[in-house]
Amino acid sequence: MKVYLSQDAAAKALGSEAVAAALKEALGDTPLTRVGSRGMVWLEPLLEIDRGQGREAWGPVAPGDIPAILAGDIPSLGLTEEIPFLAKQTRLTFQRCGIIDPLDLAQYEAHGGLAGLRRALGLSGEQMIDEMKASGLRGRGGAGFPTGIKWDTVRMAHADQKYIVCNADEGDSGTFADRMIMEGDPFCLIEGMAIAGLCTGATQGYVYTRSEYPDAVAVMRRAIELARAAGVLGGDVLGSGRAFDMEVRVGAGAYVCGEETSLLNSLEGKRGVVRAKPPLPALEGFLGRPTVVNNVISLATVPVIFEKGAAHYADFGLGRSRGTIPVQIAGNVKHGGLFETAFGMSLGDLVEEIGGGTASGRPVKAVQIGGPLGAYFGREKFDTPFGYEEFDGQGGLIGHAGVVVFDDSADMLGMARFAMEFCAVESCGKCTPCRIGAVRGVETLDRIKAGDGAAVEVLTDLCEVMKDGSLCALGGFTPYPVLSALEAFPEEFGQVKEAAE
Ligand SMILES: Cc1cc2nc3c(=O)[nH]c(=O)nc-3n(C[C@H](O)[C@H](O)[C@H](O)COP(=O)(O)O)c2cc1C
Ligand code: SF4
Repeated sequence: MKVYLSQDAAAKALGSEAVAAALKEALGDTPLTRVGSRGMVWLEPLLEIDRGQGREAWGPVAPGDIPAILAGDIPSLGLTEEIPFLAKQTRLTFQRCGIIDPLDLAQYEAHGGLAGLRRALGLSGEQMIDEMKASGLRGRGGAGFPTGIKWDTVRMAHADQKYIVCNADEGDSGTFADRMIMEGDPFCLIEGMAIAGLCTGATQGYVYTRSEYPDAVAVMRRAIELARAAGVLGGDVLGSGRAFDMEVRVGAGAYVCGEETSLLNSLEGKRGVVRAKPPLPALEGFLGRPTVVNNVISLATVPVIFEKGAAHYADFGLGRSRGTIPVQIAGNVKHGGLFETAFGMSLGDLVEEIGGGTASGRPVKAVQIGGPLGAYFGREKFDTPFGYEEFDGQGGLIGHAGVVVFDDSADMLGMARFAMEFCAVESCGKCTPCRIGAVRGVETLDRIKAGDGAAVEVLTDLCEVMKDGSLCALGGFTPYPVLSALEAFPEEFGQVKEAAE
């Protein structure tokens, strides 16, 4: 009998450690394997038992349930892989997450790990770029920029030292994919960063994450030590004679430190203020050297691209959005969690069918996609398929693919005010439209709430100024949640809703 229990931070927050203690007592000599999360957060703590017929699931489990589960008195949810939320997914980036012991390199290899790195070691830098471009992978941190093109810029730059920086700040509301990978499959991120290093000529990498992620920091640091001891990292990567090493750096947790130039300042020990571009970080990044800055999911997707081939990855998706996207379903939703799927699924299916509607049981009113700078989509936009261009066409953005669900009790003017307030609090202060504009935005929304209908025009003007005049997307995109809430729910701003054509 094999017994598995998630030790992801979400499982811990929901009581997995008390369950682990009860299990250890009841199991005696039978070992308990701690794994990452399968991503079905509403079932955490999730217990899995394999009695030779595959892994069966129980969840959410309380310590008091253990004796009855082991005695066979509580029926399981069936095979974990057959739970519809999991069965409907296409797991490429998250293929091992929740399945293996995150710190067991042998298990990692047995499940396809390191095959991508081994293959990459046989390719030239140019061939690796061709593979990346053919995969169609675009940055999963927010902007959706093609990863292969970014890498090529760094590869072609001449410098004594180049760097790979993994953006693991994960500040977007309702997102947790980066954390899940770091806690559940850290070698995958290490492998992706090593491939990026070999391709571009960078020999040093940094994972920049936040102090709110202590478990991810601990698991990543231990995994790096193990990878170094096994010769995956260091001066002679897998016996190739080529060098790549990396370390974890922890920031204090400011939203703007997820913006790549602000992150680089923070990494250099400076205040997290946005830098003007150009120069691009790809040419003058960390310590003024050519630097790849990529999100965790972008980098953790690289191993599977090299393992299975670019064509395999690019075969999934829709239009210019190739491969899969780990959607994080959160907020007021029945089945919250991580759902990795090929691009193309409609927003409505994700929310209603996969997410199961709201946790409160009330009708869904709106969803915010792409973090605090993402637009609110009302039900009329639920047909929108998940794809970069498709969302852009509807005045939204995918960002890091966080979907936060709200029921019909949500106060949309209040949410618009919150967006401005968030921007005012998190602004790095470098440019006026954001630093001052966001404060004026809060005041203007308070005027509208107090019944001053004329202030709506001031608000839309202000949003135009912030969009056009801000140096980075914090000030530049805050108008998205504000204007989308106004557009979809004008009556909440004291405006008359126009009849649909
Ligand atoms: C205010 C702000 C916050 C951001 N936060 C993050 C973040 O937490 N994680 C991330 O990967 N990208 C974040 N980004 C995007 C990064 O600037 C950058 O585009 C990204 O790290 C590039 O990696 P990718 O190409 O792999 O997506 C943020 C951007 C802005 C403007
Ligand atoms: S938009 Fe805001 S966060 Fe971005 S540079 Fe300007 S002040 Fe800083």
